[in-house]
Amino acid sequence: MNDPISAAWERLAALEPATLAALFEDDPGRVDKFSRRLEFRLGELGDVGILFDWSKTHLDDTALATFEDLARACDFAASRTALFSGGVVNPTEGRAANHGAMRGSGSEPEVEEAGALLARMGMLVEAIHDGALGEVKHLIHIGIGGSALGPAMAVDALTRDGARVDTQVVANIDGLALEQAFAACDPETTLIAVASKTFTTTETMTNAASALKWLADNGIADPYGRVIALTANPDRAVEWGVDETRILPFPESVGGRYSLWSSIGFPVALACGMEDFRALLAGAKAMDDHFRNTEGRDNAPLLAAFADLYYARIRGCQTRAVFAYDERLALLPDYLQQLEMESNGKSVTVDGEPVERPTAPITWGGVGTDAQHAVFQLLHQGTHIVPVDFIASIAPGDLLDPAHHRALLMNCLAQGAALMTGSEADDAARHYPGDRPSATILLDDIDAASLGALIAFHEHRTFANAALMRINPFDQFGVELGKAIAKRIDSGEGDFDASTMALMQAAGLR
Ligand code: F6P
Repeated sequence: MNDPISAAWERLAALEPATLAALFEDDPGRVDKFSRRLEFRLGELGDVGILFDWSKTHLDDTALATFEDLARACDFAASRTALFSGGVVNPTEGRAANHGAMRGSGSEPEVEEAGALLARMGMLVEAIHDGALGEVKHLIHIGIGGSALGPAMAVDALTRDGARVDTQVVANIDGLALEQAFAACDPETTLIAVASKTFTTTETMTNAASALKWLADNGIADPYGRVIALTANPDRAVEWGVDETRILPFPESVGGRYSLWSSIGFPVALACGMEDFRALLAGAKAMDDHFRNTEGRDNAPLLAAFADLYYARIRGCQTRAVFAYDERLALLPDYLQQLEMESNGKSVTVDGEPVERPTAPITWGGVGTDAQHAVFQLLHQGTHIVPVDFIASIAPGDLLDPAHHRALLMNCLAQGAALMTGSEADDAARHYPGDRPSATILLDDIDAASLGALIAFHEHRTFANAALMRINPFDQFGVELGKAIAKRIDSGEGDFDASTMALMQAAGLR
């Protein structure tokens, strides 16, 4: 174990961290040292202010210095440069990861191409708003995984006070999901977006075919004329029947779970307007700039990754939880689940060697204050240590009595304090052990620009985690086997294990 990477991990494993209480007691400057307030001035597109407070974690100066050594040993700076310069950062698929270019961060040709694609999307969105496709009141956006979670979250976050076009996002192949969308829409005034990077995903193509049938059954003469395709496989969309003028392509080098910034974000632009979509991109670009130009512990996503790795790899925490204390971010935990678990749920390094320590923890979470009354018992008194992120906005999303938002924020902060300080009691059942870690992300407000910055923060945090674990965050071969077996079941051929055979029979599949 003499190489500098292993040596850094050994040093991290040998640390004997103080309790959170002791860390605060020993260092009056701890809050400042472990907090970063980022402010981005984006002109007409708005201002972003976000406070990242990582002080209630067990990181101390020695841990930070050791993680910085690890980052140097892994040549983190070179990985980051490769990410933004179109280098092959996804070696198993021989691809770059050009999602940054979609928002203007990358090398010139990719950024230029992205600008042209965005302009094309802008023209279509504005034409639809101007009535070029007749009256459009509803959009049924059909996609799954990365082709659904980002648009669903962003539309939900940004249209709480009304949308220009009502948007229903349908992912599941369970027909109930599509039926529910149909019930909310008038076929006469509905457009269908078919969002699929590959344009082959079974769920999406099955739902898209059923949506076309619904239009036809309801008297729409040219159902294909109501379809917009969002894809990296435009040829396939043409074959399927979409007119080229209504295909919004994006590059193959943009991964599904990183594709909100591409034409996959079309429903955000349609529901909120192009200006908001541009603000989303600008907020993300500002976070890119911070991530690219800031070193070591001052880099907010990298600092967050240090804490993530400390808990997952050194303290053996198998999960991490995210609680959004804001209804506008209700879908953020779902989005982060895919981002983090599909990216970093791996068992081999970039060199194909087995990893020596755990990789991504299980990301889970929910909305505060609801979750306090459901799952927080385990966080406070259970046997698992779960690092928690609390995310809140200083400005409220509602117009009701300010008492609502005040209570929301008070509860959010109270939970972090309670996890850390705990509480003594003679009765063991009423004892709170405390010393449980959390981090808090406090946004000035939730608008398109700050949402963009928040998502980009998490993308870079995920990338930084991967770089320091030396794994590839951009492939996802783990999702393929189940799909292949489903196809074999469908074909009616082949033998399976006894349990699966019996279940197939019970379910009427054989
Ligand atoms: O099966 C997983 C996955 O490939 C995700 O990575 C992706 O976001 C999702 O399916 C949808 O894929 P597509 O956009 O090609 O339909």
